[in-house]
Amino acid sequence: MRLTSPVLGVAAAALLPMLATAQLDYWAKKTGMMYYGAATDTPGQRERAGYEAQYAKYDEILKDPKQFGQTTPTNGMKWLFTEPEPGVFNYTEGDFVANLAKDTGKILRCHALVWHSQLAPWVEARTNWTKAEMREVITRHITNVAGYWKGQCYAWDVVNEALDEDGSYRKSVFYNVLGEEYIKLAFEVTARVDPGTKLYYNDYGIERPASVKTAGAKRLVQMLKDAGVRIDGVGMQAHLHADNHPTAEDHENTMRQYLELVEEVAFTELDVRITDPANETSLEWQKDSYVQVAKACAKVKGCVGITVWDFYDPFSWVPYTFPGKGAAGLWFEDFTEHPAVQGVVQTLKGLVCGSRKKRGLRKRVEA
Ligand code: XIL
Repeated sequence: MRLTSPVLGVAAAALLPMLATAQLDYWAKKTGMMYYGAATDTPGQRERAGYEAQYAKYDEILKDPKQFGQTTPTNGMKWLFTEPEPGVFNYTEGDFVANLAKDTGKILRCHALVWHSQLAPWVEARTNWTKAEMREVITRHITNVAGYWKGQCYAWDVVNEALDEDGSYRKSVFYNVLGEEYIKLAFEVTARVDPGTKLYYNDYGIERPASVKTAGAKRLVQMLKDAGVRIDGVGMQAHLHADNHPTAEDHENTMRQYLELVEEVAFTELDVRITDPANETSLEWQKDSYVQVAKACAKVKGCVGITVWDFYDPFSWVPYTFPGKGAAGLWFEDFTEHPAVQGVVQTLKGLVCGSRKKRGLRKRVEA
């Protein structure tokens, strides 16, 4: 937005400061969501390496409490970094984001205890695990890692991506040794170690109401419940595509299915990838995609919040993992906003004003 625009009248110019401070978390909270958050990584690491000159401006946006009320470490709490060698624990990277959350008053989601990817090679590469050994390894890992951050995590992604594309169990090293028992074990141990944290199952591709993977996620949750194991939430990662994204109705329908089984749901890793190079049309599709998620989460009571998987395009995992795709975040490299930012803010704002109007109407009817 050009604050100096000569075509703006006095009245419009007076509105500008209000618009400039209209921010994501501020309006998300007003709709009843707990947060609108952004995941972040450790300075100098992975996608962030080489962008040191951008850190000051980046931090200004990330730390702004009206913009983002929650954060998640994109990497630092993963097995590869927390237990790189058997029984050797390292919390430096995870602490960077945990401390940032503490210092800036943000809710912290912790990610992820048991996952087949970014797993330490000593777990992954060994092929002759006994069941007893694998149980011990999972128990020790969670006892130490969840124990270390006990009391700091609003929620833990206890098990991440345990499903294959067809909704069946992924044949990870954990599954190959223990079958679905590893999932129960992970949830049981986390519940014991940090009873106050919300226990989540987290996965991608489980946002659409009729997909086989959504059915798989529901089966997994039901399996835990049948076994008397506590699970509190389902995390929909929501790594979406601008040109083919779910509608708010799709999201609502899916969330209501999960909410028959668990207390809460969240969008945990939202980003919306675009085919390079992004243009006006694809950025509009992307805006709509972000808007549909915001609308749905604001409407569904059990949807606690939305986390974007970093907000700044250069720090996004998308271009590295999906060649030919990019611009998946909310801020361009030059720190201008994608159209999606104002799209989401205006949508949330509209919902707040709408519900106020509704409340007013009810009062008048009652009176
Ligand atoms: C990604 C990180 O953002 C990257 O920096 C890393 O190189 C690979 O992992 N699903 C998840 C996240 O649960 O942990 C992944 O994060 C993205 C997909």
